[in-house]
Amino acid sequence: MDQLKGKKILIAVTGGIAAYKIPELTRLFIKAGCDVQVALTENAVRFVQPLTLETLTHHPVLMDDFILLDEGGIPHIEATAWCDILIVAPATGNVIGKAAAGIADDIVSTLLLAASRKPVLFAPAMNSRMYLNPVVKRNIALLREMGYHFIGPDEGEMACGEEGIGRLSDLTCIVEKVKDIFTVKDLQDLTILISAGPTQEPIDPVRFITNRSSGKMGYAIANAAKRRGGRVILVSGPTRLSVPKEGITLIRVKTALDMEREILEHFPYSDIVIMAAAVADYRTDKPFPQKLKKSDKSFKLELVRNPDILQALGTQKTHQILVGFAAETEKFEKNAIQKIKDKNLDLIVVNDVSQPDAGFEVDTNRIMLIDRFNKIRKFPLQSKEDAADTILDKILKIKRKVAG
Ligand code: CTP
Repeated sequence: MDQLKGKKILIAVTGGIAAYKIPELTRLFIKAGCDVQVALTENAVRFVQPLTLETLTHHPVLMDDFILLDEGGIPHIEATAWCDILIVAPATGNVIGKAAAGIADDIVSTLLLAASRKPVLFAPAMNSRMYLNPVVKRNIALLREMGYHFIGPDEGEMACGEEGIGRLSDLTCIVEKVKDIFTVKDLQDLTILISAGPTQEPIDPVRFITNRSSGKMGYAIANAAKRRGGRVILVSGPTRLSVPKEGITLIRVKTALDMEREILEHFPYSDIVIMAAAVADYRTDKPFPQKLKKSDKSFKLELVRNPDILQALGTQKTHQILVGFAAETEKFEKNAIQKIKDKNLDLIVVNDVSQPDAGFEVDTNRIMLIDRFNKIRKFPLQSKEDAADTILDKILKIKRKVAG
């Protein structure tokens, strides 16, 4: 489940100002449970101290001196045999050009030539005029075609003071990209429709009814499904979350009726449908067209039932695996099993929302999964990212079981 735990990462640094960020990138990988080794070109050494990286990684830093190892091993051959991935960060236009041409005249380009059987990720960083040079573009296109991975560069202010494209990608995005590369694409060719967040039911132009859902669980499932190779459609109520992973089709909605329309439209060609949204059960029949003014009298607001989207999906279901959520505070199993029957579900994810570390607003969840065969499994407290993978693993098991 944790794609990075125990992985061996070889980071090859070339001579760009962004090299000063590499100790932090190294620290992020170590924190994620990786073993990290670093190589520095002669120019990279001018930007970052080998001692810093040796202290962090507990490995000697590979450099241009080409010294034989104690046992007579050849450093660039041993390091590329050792690693699970080679990351070139920052990758200058120069090293990209050398890799495209098969030139090996320093430690990093030599590692690149020796790593022919390992995944390689380039994180380019250079002045935007260099990056936009057709020669660099051609070299990147050629390397991509040959199966090399790339991330970035980002836009923004650069060392020379100019604005433009050429900044080293955000470090957490580099880590996320490496996770992607290591992830088995077990959702390839499947369309996964996910709802997330709360809905907002307007009362008047400035007021609405909503709930405490943050959308974190639904977004975590969407990101994990994308990483695992799925085509992901995310129908999201209003949230404060940052835009999900690139490649996810994001449809923003406000009300339960909007959500119903979008979900029903995409349902027929979806393979897996996960309703993680906290859909408001009630709405005002007709929102007041003007802002309500206060008075001294008490005020009654009449509410009507919203459609139950999940229930409608249960009646229309053909080939889809249908997954619902249940937020419970008591009688978890009994209530959830009843919901599976009532809504014709394949799986229900039960959250104990009475606990402060699970359910709404927080980053962790303690889930229980109950499938349509009444098989119950409780999981310990996990991050919402890990819970997302747990849910997707179970969905795939059900899908395989149903397919016979
Ligand atoms: N759901 C829906 N449409 C609604 C309400 C809920 O599709 N109008 C979905 C939710 O996305 C979730 C599941 O149904 O997957 C929750 O079922 P629900 O019966 O609403 O359970 P609770 O929220 O736990 O509510 P209650 O305790 O009132 O049954």
